Amino acid sequence: MINNPKITGTKTFNLRKGITAIVSLFLFLSAILFSCGTGPEKKDLAQTAEEAPWRGWNKYQIKPEDTLVQLGRALIENTSYYLGPKGTIAAITNGMNCQNCHLDGGTLPWANNYSAVVSTYPKFRDRSGSLETIPKRVNDCFERSLNGKPLDTAGLEMRAILAYMHWVGDDIPKGKKPKGSGIMDLPYLDRAADQAKGKAVYLAKCKVCHGPDGQGQPNVEGYGYAYPPLWGKNSYNSGAGLFRISRFAGYVKNTMPFGQADFHNPQLSNEEAWDVAAFVNSQPRPQKDLSKDWPDISKKPVDHPFGPYSDGFTEEQHKYGPFAAIVNGRKKTNKK
Ligand code: HEC
Ligand code: HEC
Repeated sequence: MINNPKITGTKTFNLRKGITAIVSLFLFLSAILFSCGTGPEKKDLAQTAEEAPWRGWNKYQIKPEDTLVQLGRALIENTSYYLGPKGTIAAITNGMNCQNCHLDGGTLPWANNYSAVVSTYPKFRDRSGSLETIPKRVNDCFERSLNGKPLDTAGLEMRAILAYMHWVGDDIPKGKKPKGSGIMDLPYLDRAADQAKGKAVYLAKCKVCHGPDGQGQPNVEGYGYAYPPLWGKNSYNSGAGLFRISRFAGYVKNTMPFGQADFHNPQLSNEEAWDVAAFVNSQPRPQKDLSKDWPDISKKPVDHPFGPYSDGFTEEQHKYGPFAAIVNGRKKTNKK
Protein backbone atom coordinates (compact mmCIF):
# COMPACT_ATOMS: atom_id res chain seq x y z
CA MET A 1 0.00 0.00 0.00
CA ILE A 2 2.76 2.44 1.00
CA ASN A 3 4.32 2.16 -2.44
CA ASN A 4 1.08 2.95 -4.23
CA PRO A 5 1.92 6.10 -6.23
CA LYS A 6 -1.74 7.06 -6.04
CA ILE A 7 -1.33 7.58 -2.31
CA THR A 8 2.23 8.76 -1.94
CA GLY A 9 3.45 9.97 -5.33
CA THR A 10 2.72 12.78 -7.71
CA LYS A 11 0.21 12.34 -10.46
CA THR A 12 2.80 13.03 -13.16
CA PHE A 13 3.73 9.35 -12.83
CA ASN A 14 2.23 7.80 -15.97
CA LEU A 15 0.51 4.73 -14.62
CA ARG A 16 -0.16 3.05 -17.97
CA LYS A 17 3.43 3.41 -19.15
CA GLY A 18 4.62 2.41 -15.69
CA ILE A 19 2.54 -0.74 -15.73
CA THR A 20 3.64 -1.64 -19.26
CA ALA A 21 7.28 -1.30 -18.20
CA ILE A 22 6.77 -3.36 -15.04
CA VAL A 23 4.80 -6.04 -16.89
CA SER A 24 7.46 -6.31 -19.63
CA LEU A 25 10.20 -6.65 -17.03
CA PHE A 26 8.10 -9.22 -15.18
CA LEU A 27 7.48 -11.27 -18.34
CA PHE A 28 11.17 -11.08 -19.24
CA LEU A 29 12.28 -12.26 -15.79
CA SER A 30 9.68 -15.03 -15.64
CA ALA A 31 10.79 -16.23 -19.08
CA ILE A 32 14.30 -16.56 -17.68
CA LEU A 33 12.99 -18.34 -14.58
CA PHE A 34 10.93 -20.78 -16.63
CA SER A 35 13.81 -21.55 -18.95
CA CYS A 36 15.86 -22.51 -15.89
CA GLY A 37 13.02 -24.77 -14.77
CA THR A 38 12.89 -23.29 -11.25
CA GLY A 39 10.09 -20.77 -11.65
CA PRO A 40 6.76 -20.85 -9.82
CA GLU A 41 3.68 -22.22 -11.57
CA LYS A 42 2.27 -19.92 -14.25
CA LYS A 43 -1.13 -19.98 -12.52
CA ASP A 44 0.32 -18.63 -9.24
CA LEU A 45 1.95 -15.78 -11.08
CA ALA A 46 -1.29 -14.85 -12.81
CA GLN A 47 -3.11 -14.82 -9.49
CA THR A 48 -0.65 -12.50 -7.75
CA ALA A 49 -0.59 -10.21 -10.74
CA GLU A 50 -4.35 -9.54 -10.67
CA GLU A 51 -4.86 -9.20 -6.90
CA ALA A 52 -5.34 -5.52 -6.02
CA PRO A 53 -8.62 -3.77 -6.83
CA TRP A 54 -8.56 -0.29 -8.33
CA ARG A 55 -8.27 2.72 -6.13
CA GLY A 56 -8.30 6.33 -7.23
CA TRP A 57 -5.81 9.13 -7.09
CA ASN A 58 -5.49 11.06 -3.86
CA LYS A 59 -7.36 14.41 -4.02
CA TYR A 60 -4.21 16.31 -3.05
CA GLN A 61 -2.82 15.22 -6.40
CA ILE A 62 -5.24 17.52 -8.23
CA LYS A 63 -3.03 20.30 -9.57
CA PRO A 64 -3.85 23.74 -8.11
CA GLU A 65 -4.16 25.12 -11.65
CA ASP A 66 -6.80 22.49 -12.55
CA THR A 67 -9.52 24.74 -11.15
CA LEU A 68 -12.35 22.98 -12.96
CA VAL A 69 -11.34 19.60 -11.48
CA GLN A 70 -10.95 21.24 -8.05
CA LEU A 71 -14.46 22.65 -8.30
CA GLY A 72 -15.83 19.27 -9.42
CA ARG A 73 -14.29 17.56 -6.42
CA ALA A 74 -15.66 20.25 -4.09
CA LEU A 75 -19.18 19.80 -5.51
CA ILE A 76 -19.01 16.02 -4.99
CA GLU A 77 -17.66 16.32 -1.42
CA ASN A 78 -19.71 19.22 -0.22
CA THR A 79 -22.81 19.23 -2.40
CA SER A 80 -24.98 20.59 0.40
CA TYR A 81 -22.81 23.70 0.84
CA TYR A 82 -23.19 24.66 -2.84
CA LEU A 83 -26.48 23.07 -3.88
CA GLY A 84 -28.33 22.03 -0.70
CA PRO A 85 -31.41 23.68 0.81
CA LYS A 86 -29.22 26.65 1.89
CA GLY A 87 -26.90 26.31 -1.13
CA THR A 88 -24.55 29.15 -2.05
CA ILE A 89 -25.01 28.45 -5.80
CA ALA A 90 -28.59 27.14 -5.93
CA ALA A 91 -31.03 25.31 -3.68
CA ILE A 92 -31.76 22.18 -5.72
CA THR A 93 -30.91 19.17 -3.48
CA ASN A 94 -31.85 17.63 -0.11
CA GLY A 95 -28.77 18.41 2.01
CA MET A 96 -26.91 15.17 1.27
CA ASN A 97 -23.53 15.05 -0.51
CA CYS A 98 -22.59 12.90 -3.49
CA GLN A 99 -19.72 11.67 -1.34
CA ASN A 100 -22.13 10.21 1.25
CA CYS A 101 -22.60 7.32 -1.19
CA HIS A 102 -19.45 7.66 -3.33
CA LEU A 103 -16.85 7.60 -0.57
CA ASP A 104 -13.78 9.81 -0.70
CA GLY A 105 -14.98 11.51 -3.85
CA GLY A 106 -15.68 8.17 -5.53
CA THR A 107 -12.11 6.87 -5.30
CA LEU A 108 -12.31 3.87 -2.93
CA PRO A 109 -12.63 0.21 -3.96
CA TRP A 110 -16.21 -1.17 -3.68
CA ALA A 111 -17.37 2.08 -2.09
CA ASN A 112 -19.37 3.02 -5.20
CA ASN A 113 -16.42 4.64 -6.93
CA TYR A 114 -16.33 6.48 -10.26
CA SER A 115 -13.52 4.43 -11.85
CA ALA A 116 -15.61 3.18 -14.77
CA VAL A 117 -17.70 6.28 -15.52
CA VAL A 118 -15.56 7.80 -18.24
CA SER A 119 -14.53 4.39 -19.63
CA THR A 120 -18.10 3.03 -20.01
CA TYR A 121 -20.31 6.06 -20.83
CA PRO A 122 -22.14 6.92 -22.98
CA LYS A 123 -23.95 3.62 -22.57
CA PHE A 124 -27.39 2.15 -23.12
CA ARG A 125 -29.29 1.78 -19.86
CA ASP A 126 -32.39 -0.34 -19.55
CA ARG A 127 -33.82 1.84 -16.76
CA SER A 128 -34.41 4.72 -19.19
CA GLY A 129 -34.34 2.59 -22.35
CA SER A 130 -31.93 5.05 -23.91
CA LEU A 131 -28.29 5.86 -24.56
CA GLU A 132 -27.12 7.85 -21.54
CA THR A 133 -24.30 10.37 -21.39
CA ILE A 134 -22.34 11.13 -18.21
CA PRO A 135 -24.33 14.36 -17.54
CA LYS A 136 -27.59 12.40 -17.86
CA ARG A 137 -26.32 9.80 -15.36
CA VAL A 138 -25.06 12.50 -12.97
CA ASN A 139 -28.47 14.19 -13.10
CA ASP A 140 -30.13 10.86 -12.29
CA CYS A 141 -28.36 10.94 -8.92
CA PHE A 142 -29.34 14.60 -8.48
CA GLU A 143 -33.01 13.77 -9.07
CA ARG A 144 -33.14 10.46 -7.20
CA SER A 145 -30.32 10.02 -4.68
CA LEU A 146 -30.42 13.71 -3.70
CA ASN A 147 -34.15 13.92 -4.38
CA GLY A 148 -33.52 17.19 -6.23
CA LYS A 149 -33.57 19.00 -9.53
CA PRO A 150 -31.14 18.36 -12.41
CA LEU A 151 -28.15 20.60 -13.12
CA ASP A 152 -28.04 22.58 -16.36
CA THR A 153 -25.98 20.20 -18.52
CA ALA A 154 -24.09 23.10 -20.17
CA GLY A 155 -23.43 24.99 -16.92
CA LEU A 156 -20.17 25.43 -15.02
CA GLU A 157 -21.08 22.95 -12.25
CA MET A 158 -21.81 20.11 -14.68
CA ARG A 159 -18.63 20.86 -16.64
CA ALA A 160 -16.68 20.76 -13.37
CA ILE A 161 -18.18 17.38 -12.37
CA LEU A 162 -17.37 16.02 -15.84
CA ALA A 163 -13.78 17.26 -15.59
CA TYR A 164 -13.52 15.59 -12.20
CA MET A 165 -14.87 12.27 -13.57
CA HIS A 166 -12.18 12.41 -16.28
CA TRP A 167 -9.53 13.06 -13.64
CA VAL A 168 -10.71 10.07 -11.55
CA GLY A 169 -10.95 7.61 -14.42
CA ASP A 170 -7.96 8.61 -16.51
CA ASP A 171 -6.05 5.36 -15.93
CA ILE A 172 -8.88 3.11 -17.18
CA PRO A 173 -8.86 2.16 -20.88
CA LYS A 174 -12.10 2.77 -22.84
CA GLY A 175 -14.64 -0.01 -22.34
CA LYS A 176 -12.95 -1.45 -19.23
CA LYS A 177 -14.42 -1.78 -15.75
CA PRO A 178 -11.70 -2.40 -13.17
CA LYS A 179 -12.00 -4.80 -10.26
CA GLY A 180 -13.46 -2.91 -7.28
CA SER A 181 -15.56 -0.60 -9.44
CA GLY A 182 -18.98 0.52 -8.21
CA ILE A 183 -20.86 -1.65 -5.69
CA MET A 184 -20.14 -5.32 -4.91
CA ASP A 185 -22.77 -7.96 -5.76
CA LEU A 186 -23.23 -9.99 -2.58
CA PRO A 187 -24.39 -13.61 -2.89
CA TYR A 188 -28.17 -13.99 -2.53
CA LEU A 189 -29.57 -15.34 0.73
CA ASP A 190 -31.63 -18.51 0.45
CA ARG A 191 -34.44 -16.75 2.32
CA ALA A 192 -36.15 -13.37 2.10
CA ALA A 193 -34.25 -10.51 3.77
CA ASP A 194 -35.75 -9.96 7.21
CA GLN A 195 -36.79 -6.48 8.39
CA ALA A 196 -37.02 -7.49 12.06
CA LYS A 197 -33.49 -8.88 12.09
CA GLY A 198 -32.41 -5.79 10.15
CA LYS A 199 -33.87 -3.53 12.80
CA ALA A 200 -31.74 -5.26 15.43
CA VAL A 201 -28.64 -4.69 13.27
CA TYR A 202 -29.63 -1.05 12.84
CA LEU A 203 -30.02 -0.46 16.57
CA ALA A 204 -26.73 -2.17 17.38
CA LYS A 205 -24.51 -0.82 14.60
CA CYS A 206 -26.00 2.19 12.83
CA LYS A 207 -28.20 4.15 15.22
CA VAL A 208 -25.28 5.74 17.07
CA CYS A 209 -24.53 7.90 14.00
CA HIS A 210 -27.63 7.86 11.78
CA GLY A 211 -29.93 8.45 14.78
CA PRO A 212 -32.74 6.52 16.49
CA ASP A 213 -35.20 7.71 13.82
CA GLY A 214 -32.79 7.41 10.84
CA GLN A 215 -32.84 11.16 10.23
CA GLY A 216 -29.06 11.59 10.62
CA GLN A 217 -27.45 14.49 12.44
CA PRO A 218 -27.00 18.00 11.03
CA ASN A 219 -23.47 19.43 10.79
CA VAL A 220 -22.42 22.26 13.11
CA GLU A 221 -22.42 24.76 10.25
CA GLY A 222 -26.13 24.06 9.79
CA TYR A 223 -26.23 23.56 6.00
CA GLY A 224 -25.90 19.78 5.74
CA TYR A 225 -25.15 16.61 7.70
CA ALA A 226 -22.40 15.23 9.89
CA TYR A 227 -24.26 11.91 9.57
CA PRO A 228 -26.63 11.73 6.61
CA PRO A 229 -30.25 10.53 6.94
CA LEU A 230 -31.16 6.97 5.90
CA TRP A 231 -34.88 7.58 5.53
CA GLY A 232 -37.50 10.32 5.87
CA LYS A 233 -38.10 13.48 3.83
CA ASN A 234 -34.41 14.43 3.47
CA SER A 235 -33.25 11.02 2.27
CA TYR A 236 -32.89 9.44 -1.20
CA ASN A 237 -36.19 8.78 -2.98
CA SER A 238 -37.88 5.58 -4.18
CA GLY A 239 -36.22 5.87 -7.61
CA ALA A 240 -32.65 5.87 -6.22
CA GLY A 241 -30.19 3.02 -6.73
CA LEU A 242 -29.89 2.45 -2.97
CA PHE A 243 -33.61 1.75 -2.78
CA ARG A 244 -32.82 -1.64 -4.37
CA ILE A 245 -31.74 -3.80 -1.46
CA SER A 246 -28.90 -5.48 -3.40
CA ARG A 247 -27.30 -2.04 -3.94
CA PHE A 248 -27.80 -1.01 -0.31
CA ALA A 249 -26.47 -4.33 1.05
CA GLY A 250 -23.42 -4.32 -1.25
CA TYR A 251 -22.65 -0.72 -0.36
CA VAL A 252 -22.88 -1.01 3.42
CA LYS A 253 -21.08 -4.37 3.51
CA ASN A 254 -17.88 -2.65 2.36
CA THR A 255 -18.31 0.80 3.93
CA MET A 256 -20.36 0.82 7.17
CA PRO A 257 -20.06 1.47 10.07
CA PHE A 258 -18.17 4.42 8.59
CA GLY A 259 -14.53 4.65 9.66
CA GLN A 260 -14.42 1.02 10.78
CA ALA A 261 -15.39 -0.96 7.69
CA ASP A 262 -13.84 -1.25 4.26
CA PHE A 263 -13.57 -4.18 1.85
CA HIS A 264 -10.55 -5.55 3.77
CA ASN A 265 -12.40 -5.28 7.08
CA PRO A 266 -16.14 -5.69 6.58
CA GLN A 267 -18.06 -5.37 9.84
CA LEU A 268 -21.35 -6.91 8.70
CA SER A 269 -22.02 -10.51 7.68
CA ASN A 270 -23.81 -10.87 4.34
CA GLU A 271 -27.00 -11.69 6.24
CA GLU A 272 -26.71 -8.55 8.36
CA ALA A 273 -26.11 -6.45 5.25
CA TRP A 274 -29.21 -7.84 3.45
CA ASP A 275 -31.39 -7.61 6.58
CA VAL A 276 -30.44 -4.03 7.46
CA ALA A 277 -31.07 -3.11 3.81
CA ALA A 278 -34.57 -4.59 4.08
CA PHE A 279 -35.22 -2.68 7.30
CA VAL A 280 -34.00 0.72 6.09
CA ASN A 281 -35.75 0.43 2.72
CA SER A 282 -39.06 -0.34 4.46
CA GLN A 283 -39.08 3.04 6.21
CA PRO A 284 -40.88 6.08 4.72
CA ARG A 285 -39.05 8.20 2.12
CA PRO A 286 -39.88 10.57 -0.75
CA GLN A 287 -41.64 8.89 -3.69
CA LYS A 288 -40.68 9.53 -7.29
CA ASP A 289 -42.87 9.08 -10.34
CA LEU A 290 -41.24 6.07 -12.01
CA SER A 291 -43.81 5.47 -14.72
CA LYS A 292 -41.26 6.20 -17.47
CA ASP A 293 -38.63 3.80 -16.05
CA TRP A 294 -37.96 0.35 -17.52
CA PRO A 295 -39.87 0.70 -20.80
CA ASP A 296 -39.03 -3.01 -21.31
CA ILE A 297 -40.26 -4.58 -18.06
CA SER A 298 -38.46 -7.87 -18.73
CA LYS A 299 -35.19 -5.96 -18.16
CA LYS A 300 -36.00 -4.98 -14.55
CA PRO A 301 -33.35 -6.18 -12.10
CA VAL A 302 -34.58 -9.03 -9.85
CA ASP A 303 -34.65 -6.69 -6.85
CA HIS A 304 -36.50 -3.84 -8.56
CA PRO A 305 -39.22 -3.22 -5.97
CA PHE A 306 -42.03 -2.01 -8.27
CA GLY A 307 -44.16 -4.01 -10.71
CA PRO A 308 -45.40 -4.80 -13.26
CA TYR A 309 -43.03 -7.69 -13.96
CA SER A 310 -42.75 -10.09 -16.84
CA ASP A 311 -42.00 -13.11 -14.61
CA GLY A 312 -45.08 -13.61 -12.39
CA PHE A 313 -43.32 -13.10 -9.03
CA THR A 314 -44.84 -10.68 -6.51
CA GLU A 315 -43.68 -7.17 -5.68
CA GLU A 316 -42.95 -8.42 -2.15
CA GLN A 317 -40.58 -11.13 -3.39
CA HIS A 318 -38.91 -8.71 -5.83
CA LYS A 319 -38.30 -6.33 -2.96
CA TYR A 320 -37.00 -8.72 -0.27
CA GLY A 321 -36.23 -12.04 -1.99
CA PRO A 322 -35.59 -14.92 -2.00
CA PHE A 323 -34.05 -13.90 -5.33
CA ALA A 324 -32.56 -17.17 -6.59
CA ALA A 325 -36.04 -18.49 -7.39
CA ILE A 326 -36.71 -15.42 -9.56
CA VAL A 327 -33.39 -15.77 -11.36
CA ASN A 328 -34.04 -19.46 -12.07
CA GLY A 329 -37.63 -18.74 -13.09
CA ARG A 330 -36.38 -16.20 -15.63
CA LYS A 331 -33.79 -18.61 -17.01
CA LYS A 332 -36.52 -21.18 -17.69
CA THR A 333 -38.75 -18.64 -19.44
CA ASN A 334 -35.87 -17.50 -21.62
CA LYS A 335 -35.18 -21.07 -22.72
CA LYS A 336 -38.76 -21.66 -23.87
C1 HEC B 1 -27.98 8.03 -1.66
C2 HEC B 1 -26.78 7.55 -2.31
C3 HEC B 1 -26.21 8.32 -3.49
C4 HEC B 1 -25.91 9.65 -3.57
C5 HEC B 1 -26.10 10.70 -2.50
C6 HEC B 1 -25.36 9.85 -4.90
N1 HEC B 1 -25.31 8.68 -5.57
FE1 HEC B 1 -24.55 8.39 -7.43
N2 HEC B 1 -25.01 6.42 -7.34
C7 HEC B 1 -25.63 5.81 -6.27
C8 HEC B 1 -25.88 4.42 -6.60
C9 HEC B 1 -26.54 3.39 -5.68
C10 HEC B 1 -25.42 4.23 -7.92
C11 HEC B 1 -25.51 2.95 -8.76
C12 HEC B 1 -24.42 1.99 -8.41
C13 HEC B 1 -24.65 0.61 -8.99
O1 HEC B 1 -25.77 0.29 -9.39
O2 HEC B 1 -23.68 -0.16 -9.02
C14 HEC B 1 -24.88 5.51 -8.34
C15 HEC B 1 -24.29 5.73 -9.58
C16 HEC B 1 -23.73 6.92 -10.00
C17 HEC B 1 -23.04 7.10 -11.25
C18 HEC B 1 -22.81 6.02 -12.31
C19 HEC B 1 -21.63 5.17 -11.92
C20 HEC B 1 -21.31 4.08 -12.92
O3 HEC B 1 -20.15 3.58 -12.90
O4 HEC B 1 -22.18 3.71 -13.72
C21 HEC B 1 -22.64 8.41 -11.30
C22 HEC B 1 -21.88 9.10 -12.41
C23 HEC B 1 -23.09 9.03 -10.07
N3 HEC B 1 -23.73 8.10 -9.29
C24 HEC B 1 -22.88 10.36 -9.74
C25 HEC B 1 -23.37 10.96 -8.58
C26 HEC B 1 -23.27 12.37 -8.31
C27 HEC B 1 -22.58 13.39 -9.19
C28 HEC B 1 -23.88 12.57 -7.11
C29 HEC B 1 -24.13 13.89 -6.40
C30 HEC B 1 -24.89 14.85 -7.17
C31 HEC B 1 -24.33 11.28 -6.62
N4 HEC B 1 -24.02 10.34 -7.54
C32 HEC B 1 -24.95 11.08 -5.40
C33 HEC B 1 -25.93 6.37 -5.05
C34 HEC B 1 -25.82 7.71 -4.75
C1 HEC C 1 -19.49 6.09 13.01
C2 HEC C 1 -20.68 6.65 12.43
C3 HEC C 1 -21.47 5.76 11.48
C4 HEC C 1 -22.00 4.51 11.73
C5 HEC C 1 -21.91 3.70 13.01
C6 HEC C 1 -22.69 4.13 10.51
N1 HEC C 1 -22.60 5.11 9.57
FE1 HEC C 1 -23.45 5.11 7.73
N2 HEC C 1 -22.56 6.88 7.30
C7 HEC C 1 -21.77 7.61 8.18
C8 HEC C 1 -21.23 8.76 7.50
C9 HEC C 1 -20.32 9.83 8.10
C10 HEC C 1 -21.70 8.69 6.17
C11 HEC C 1 -21.33 9.65 5.03
C12 HEC C 1 -19.90 9.35 4.58
C13 HEC C 1 -19.25 10.49 3.81
O1 HEC C 1 -19.94 11.43 3.44
O2 HEC C 1 -18.03 10.40 3.59
C14 HEC C 1 -22.55 7.51 6.10
C15 HEC C 1 -23.27 7.13 4.96
C16 HEC C 1 -24.16 6.07 4.92
C17 HEC C 1 -25.00 5.74 3.79
C18 HEC C 1 -25.12 6.49 2.48
C19 HEC C 1 -25.75 7.82 2.65
C20 HEC C 1 -27.18 7.83 3.14
O3 HEC C 1 -27.44 8.54 4.11
O4 HEC C 1 -28.05 7.14 2.57
C21 HEC C 1 -25.70 4.62 4.12
C22 HEC C 1 -26.71 3.89 3.27
C23 HEC C 1 -25.27 4.22 5.45
N3 HEC C 1 -24.35 5.14 5.91
C24 HEC C 1 -25.76 3.12 6.12
C25 HEC C 1 -25.28 2.71 7.37
C26 HEC C 1 -25.69 1.48 8.00
C27 HEC C 1 -26.69 0.49 7.45
C28 HEC C 1 -24.99 1.41 9.18
C29 HEC C 1 -25.00 0.30 10.19
C30 HEC C 1 -24.64 -1.01 9.70
C31 HEC C 1 -24.17 2.61 9.27
N4 HEC C 1 -24.37 3.37 8.17
C32 HEC C 1 -23.36 2.92 10.35
C33 HEC C 1 -21.53 7.31 9.49
C34 HEC C 1 -21.86 6.12 10.12
